[in-house]
Amino acid sequence: MAGNQRHIGAPPCPATLHCQPARLKARRMKSPVALTLLAPLALTLATLSFQAAAAEAKPAFKPDLAKGQQLATTCLACHTADGTRGVPANPILAAQHPEYLVKQLIEFKSGKRKNAVMQGMAAILSEDDMKHVAAFYASKQSKPGFARDKDTVTLGEQIWRGGILGKAVPACAGCHSPNGAGVPSQYPRIGGQHGDYTEAQLLAFRSGLRANNAQMSTIAAKMNDREIKAVADYVAGLR
Ligand code: HEC
Ligand code: HEC
Repeated sequence: MAGNQRHIGAPPCPATLHCQPARLKARRMKSPVALTLLAPLALTLATLSFQAAAAEAKPAFKPDLAKGQQLATTCLACHTADGTRGVPANPILAAQHPEYLVKQLIEFKSGKRKNAVMQGMAAILSEDDMKHVAAFYASKQSKPGFARDKDTVTLGEQIWRGGILGKAVPACAGCHSPNGAGVPSQYPRIGGQHGDYTEAQLLAFRSGLRANNAQMSTIAAKMNDREIKAVADYVAGLR
């Protein structure tokens, strides 16, 4: 009799690892009552771990550079064929961290980041497409840029390296790294970016037009036009 108890509620178990714990637990149970109550639970747990294992078995996403390049043909009129130096109003995407690019595309699509053109462009991309196209641009190298204004380059460099004293503006280099390459997945590359674009973004963070990052909104809020222009121009020459 006791020998049969362990089979209550436990149907024939396929020879998988996931069933084993439930079976072993059931075998150790002494009370038939407890066993009757717990067996369905054990079964549920076994099923759940089964499902989890099935989900894990799904192959990890692999960005496809060829697919990314194909998708980027829609973007080349503004961002150039490989995301490098085009007209100053359009950001350089080459060598940008792919996680940052995907975040921006998701936020254009959802409307969290506002720009009429880019909201339309992102709307037609699936999240997988975004990852493919981001990986494509990330794999490219941009051409170096230059600061243009000799008169503000010292101020720009001071802000970049040391922030703005008395205004609690932190050093940009602290997050975006000393050469502006950023920190993968956390802080975007901004070194070598078009000065005009960088300036426009700082102004947008300050005015609230771009409101997809609290850190940058707080920083830009404390900067005046001259400081923004100076640091944006300085950043363009970083490499
Ligand atoms: C008609 C011109 C145009 C086209 C086409 C275009 N973009 Fe853009 N893109 C822009 C402009 C302008 C911005 C800057 C928007 C802003 O000021 O916030 C931008 C911004 C971006 C950004 C944010 C970059 C950053 O540093 O934050 C990404 C990512 C981007 N575009 C990807 C794409 C992709 C991918 C495509 C093609 C599917 C594309 N763009 C097509 C003009 C364009
Ligand atoms: C505390 C960390 C931190 C500091 C300090 C910081 N940034 Fe940023 N910055 C960020 C993050 C995070 C983002 C990405 C925002 C997003 O995800 O949209 C960003 C984005 C930007 C962008 C937008 C880039 C693009 O391609 O659109 C610019 C421009 C920028 N920062 C300039 C600066 C400047 C100039 C300074 C110094 C005055 C500075 N940042 C200081 C964290 C920081």
